[in-house]
Amino acid sequence: MTTFLSGIQSTGLQHLGNYFGAIRHHIELAREDGEHFYFIADYHALTTTPKPEELRERVRETAVTYLALGLDAEKACLFRQSDVPEVTELTWLLSCVTGMGLLERAHSYKDKTAKGAKPSVGLFTYPILMAADILAYDSNVVPVGKDQIQHVEMAQDMAGHFNNVYGDGSEGGAVFQRPEARMPKEAAHAKVLGLDGEKMSKSYGNDLWIFETGKKLKKAINRIATDSRPPEEAKDPAGILLLDFLKLFAEAGESAEWCERVQAGGADAPGYGHIKVRLVELIEEHFREARARRDELLRDPGEVDRQLAAGALVARARAAATRDRALAACGLR
Ligand code: ADP
Ligand code: TRP
Repeated sequence: MTTFLSGIQSTGLQHLGNYFGAIRHHIELAREDGEHFYFIADYHALTTTPKPEELRERVRETAVTYLALGLDAEKACLFRQSDVPEVTELTWLLSCVTGMGLLERAHSYKDKTAKGAKPSVGLFTYPILMAADILAYDSNVVPVGKDQIQHVEMAQDMAGHFNNVYGDGSEGGAVFQRPEARMPKEAAHAKVLGLDGEKMSKSYGNDLWIFETGKKLKKAINRIATDSRPPEEAKDPAGILLLDFLKLFAEAGESAEWCERVQAGGADAPGYGHIKVRLVELIEEHFREARARRDELLRDPGEVDRQLAAGALVARARAAATRDRALAACGLR
């Protein structure tokens, strides 16, 4: 049986990149046969030292986001990372077989510190905690956006090192299973661009919250980077960020039509303002039902907490079994 697992950090509100690159993909995969584990990475969120109250609230908001967007919590186990402290034990065991060189090659540490994040030991060893998350549930498939691929590869390396040192070498004697990353099929979903044209990210201030609506949504869409060429000038649609956004939400036929009109130029060509108006409509419509479900869920936070607690019970039993196996393999039991 295939085991699917992924996590999402609970720093800030989930944005369109998280939606197309992760959450929507997770929800679709959860309809396939297999086991499904999805968790809110609150231990990982500590690398940015959020305020405790804010962190607590974000965890619940992230759970609500998954449920509102349609995750079936009967089929998929939704839980909070820190409800499974066994992963921190596994993190230590993996740290002891992981070379410094492997971590030094991580792009995310370099990118985050270059953008002003505090260079803490936790931020540096972040990929080991992530490997522990992945290996704790014997995951086979890890659905993530492009930016997380290197971390999944590091988890493969760590599993391999641990198995080489402590596995008994026989087929079936491996302590950890080898996980494989899976990106969304469409490249535009695996790396969604932000309002400024760079990768959309909570830490870059270029993101758009999934449930943004009304005036704030219009304001955000107005921020999408454009140029000053007039509407009648014929333009290559490939270089127009607004059209990239439109393609995320419009039917293929409609997107093609907008692109053709922009390419043709002339008196009938739409201005950027027209495209923005349509984009706002499409986003409002796309998330209308989920937004209503979110409002409902927020009225009953106890129910959300209950679902997270139920998920944690299942996840914890699984991780404890892996932890016991790993402890026994390295001589601690
Ligand atoms: P952020 O970069 O905003 O902090 P996270 O690191 O919490 O986002 O990512 C959570 C999930 O969302 C991961 O699977 C990641 O690959 C995916 N993701 C994040 N940003 C994007 C993006 N711009 N496009 C596609 N997927 C993304
Ligand atoms: N590092 C991931 C992110 O920033 C979140 C995460 C933590 C994760 N543990 C994981 C993703 C395990 C996949 C598998 O989004």
